[in-house]
Amino acid sequence: MIQLRNVSKKFQKNESISVVALSDVTLDIKPGEFVAIVGPSGSGKSTLMNIMGLLDVPTEGSYLLENKEVSGLDIDALAKLRNQKVGFVFQSFHLLARTSAKENVELPLIYSDRSDIKNRAANALKAVGLEDRMNHFPSELSGGEQQRVAIARSLVNEPDILFADEPTGNLDSQSGLEVISIFQDLNEQGKTIVLVTHDQHIAEHSRRIVRISDGKIQADGAVAQPKRAAEELSKLQADKTNANQNARLQADEGEAT
Ligand SMILES: Nc1ncnc2c1ncn2[C@@H]1O[C@H](COP(=O)(O)OP(=O)(O)OP(=O)(O)O)[C@@H](O)[C@H]1O
Ligand SMILES: [Mg+2]
Repeated sequence: MIQLRNVSKKFQKNESISVVALSDVTLDIKPGEFVAIVGPSGSGKSTLMNIMGLLDVPTEGSYLLENKEVSGLDIDALAKLRNQKVGFVFQSFHLLARTSAKENVELPLIYSDRSDIKNRAANALKAVGLEDRMNHFPSELSGGEQQRVAIARSLVNEPDILFADEPTGNLDSQSGLEVISIFQDLNEQGKTIVLVTHDQHIAEHSRRIVRISDGKIQADGAVAQPKRAAEELSKLQADKTNANQNARLQADEGEAT
């Protein structure tokens, strides 16, 4: 699905200063994979994701997306292909504030020639468990719910690949797990997912971890036993229920004495 061959990206700040963000990256991602890209700040994770997601082009090397060379495409061709093939989720949710959850999810459909807009947006919101929040504005939703709206928006054009850049970066640990649990469900249904994160625990929910530093791939391996976000969430829930019960017991004992 994704084949990068000796891809480099150099940012030219001015005549004398340039930054090499990616250096000689060769990477294959197959349909149905769930890959986490990890590495320290400034290592080139977002640059790599932006190139794979057709938001940017390499300065050197070849990129075959579904067997089509895309490294030399112009901005219009990239935008068209991007709209058909890929979905994005970012750290800050990028929702329109004065627009309902449903209208936010409908936005990408305006640029495509798909019909049944209303149904598609509703179904995408259902897939992330927000069918009862369709008419709420972003300010009426929690951070985790806003990110789920953003995921629904990324899915509405039925992309082949979903790219997420630090999607849990602005969320508490429970909301983060809820988001990861949605990605795991989507991946089980066959969606290819590329997740950028600096959080090792989050990365261990993927099936494969690619580690980069200084713009180079340092390690690339399968995750033997991916963590299950849904299980961690039910454990969190059980712990909470126990804590509540204990608190109630203690209060009852207090009243009895
Ligand atoms: N548009 C740009 N112009 C100039 N330099 C850039 C640009 N985008 C990224 N860089 C540089 O390329 C390098 C890699 O940046 P990138 O954003 O890919 O890192 P990252 O791994 O995503 O970091 P973070 O974890 O902080 O998001 C950094 O040194 C950065 O300063
Ligand atoms: Mg980044």
